[in-house]
Amino acid sequence: MLEIVNLHSNYGEAIVLRGVNLSVPAGRVTGLLGRNGMGKTTLIRSIMGLTPPTVVKGSVKFGTTELVGREPDQVAGLGIGLVPQGRRLFPSLTVVEHLEICPRRDAPAGRSAWTIDRAFELFPRLGERRKHRGNQLSGGERQMLAIVRALMSNPDLLLMDEPTEGLAPVMVQHVENAVRILRDEGLTVLLVEQNLRSALSLIDSANILETGVLVYSGTAQDLKNSPDILQRHLGV
Ligand SMILES: Nc1ncnc2c1ncn2[C@@H]1O[C@H](COP(=O)(O)OP(=O)(O)O)[C@@H](O)[C@H]1O
Ligand SMILES: [Mg+2]
Repeated sequence: MLEIVNLHSNYGEAIVLRGVNLSVPAGRVTGLLGRNGMGKTTLIRSIMGLTPPTVVKGSVKFGTTELVGREPDQVAGLGIGLVPQGRRLFPSLTVVEHLEICPRRDAPAGRSAWTIDRAFELFPRLGERRKHRGNQLSGGERQMLAIVRALMSNPDLLLMDEPTEGLAPVMVQHVENAVRILRDEGLTVLLVEQNLRSALSLIDSANILETGVLVYSGTAQDLKNSPDILQRHLGV
């Protein structure tokens, strides 16, 4: 569904991605792992067309469509949803208002469209907070809102950048359950995670990014059984 070939991205003089090759197959949860500062968010931003960084070389194909050079709203309109790292929200808008103002797109053939009611089925806790404003939500509730906000555009591919970062254990479970539900519905997900235990319970395949290149691609099961790789590239 997404094919990244030889992708190079810079922040001015600082070269961050140095020829990334990555495949995201349809209907699977693909993991993107790696220590802090290795370029995971840079890769996600490069896919979405968000600047900085600047993509200087390489290709990102979504189906047959080249994404490099497109604006973020165009990329979103093609069917890619983003749950950004740090879950940016509007402090003064309520939960429902966030969901009312997000850009919509028709659901892909054969899949039911996301609605506010369906969002609250996925995260009942968010439904209970429907009138609360962005700045009144806990970290976990913000993350839930960031996820359903991305879903409201009925994406074919969901990019999730460290969705469990900084969350209390019970909130991590809520987010993990949601990813499982989305996976079971056949949504394609590219999941960036630092939390290895969480990642390994959710992903089908694992990719490890280290200083801007992919140093491991394999099944989640193989990675689990490779203590040397976990130690060398993830320090665990
Ligand atoms: N806006 C920016 N300007 C300059 N350098 C940046 C910027 N954002 C990130 N970087 C650098 O790019 C590298 C990769 O960062 P990032 O993609 O955020 O890593 P990760 O998401 O894997 O933690 C780091 O060295 C970071 O300092
Ligand atoms: Mg990051």
